[in-house]
Amino acid sequence: MDLSEHAKVNRAAWNVSAADYAAAAQRNWGTDEISWGIWNVPESEVGALPDVGGMDVVELGCGTAYVSAWLARRGARPIGIDLSENQLATARRMQAEHQLEFPLVHASAEDVPLSAESADLVISEYGASLWCDPDLWLREASRLLRADGWLVFLTNSLMVTLCAPDVGPATDRLLRGQRGLRVVEYESDDGVEFHLAHSDWINTLARHGFAVTALHELYAPEGAQQTQFEWVTPEWAQRWPVEEIWVARRTDT
Ligand SMILES: C[S@@+](CC[C@H](N)C(=O)[O-])C[C@H]1O[C@@H](n2cnc3c(N)ncnc32)[C@H](O)[C@@H]1O
Repeated sequence: MDLSEHAKVNRAAWNVSAADYAAAAQRNWGTDEISWGIWNVPESEVGALPDVGGMDVVELGCGTAYVSAWLARRGARPIGIDLSENQLATARRMQAEHQLEFPLVHASAEDVPLSAESADLVISEYGASLWCDPDLWLREASRLLRADGWLVFLTNSLMVTLCAPDVGPATDRLLRGQRGLRVVEYESDDGVEFHLAHSDWINTLARHGFAVTALHELYAPEGAQQTQFEWVTPEWAQRWPVEEIWVARRTDT
């Protein structure tokens, strides 16, 4: 695999942290309800997804692949792509436990070994959407999708990225400039992340043939408890959006 420098760093980091994601995999594979993000906001409240029955789906940065599993149970034909052998090992274990098989491909979402125009939906929940160069993975998403296909991805909100210190939970202060925002590396984490201002997301999506149809900003629900993700508290996420889901369509260019 010919990997970008940040992809090599992220593969190593995810092979180490994969063990911390096994419990969430167990929980998420064990439920039929589709939900989003670290506080499991139900899709029934958000409405980001189309009816996926009969759709060819590619999940970019599938990790333990519970999102693909949810879609498969609704009649979709998913393929999961991930760079981390250890995350894929958990995904394969879950597939065996739940007797739900679909292809899992060990590859980078920046260079996907699948045919052009082979998908109706490309999806990413904290996968390529966070860990890949936006121009590289959106070029791939655009190539993979048929005309009018759907792109749905969740990533950290712009707000939480601007308020996040190098170590510890998000604050109520702007700690990072928005101008020129792109690569973000935290002292407390070994990975390389990509975050864009909203105008940059819209323009980058447009450059790759996408028109945005919705932006859903997610808050922590009432009564939310602290999660394993110590970079944000429920109190913070009840006041400001912690995650955002972008929905776009592949225009017929
Ligand atoms: C937070 S997980 C998200 C996946 C899934 N929702 C989950 O929680 O298991 C992030 C995933 O992105 C993957 N990833 C990072 N860089 C990638 C790349 N260049 N190509 C494919 N996957 C990548 C990591 O290996 C990891 O499994």
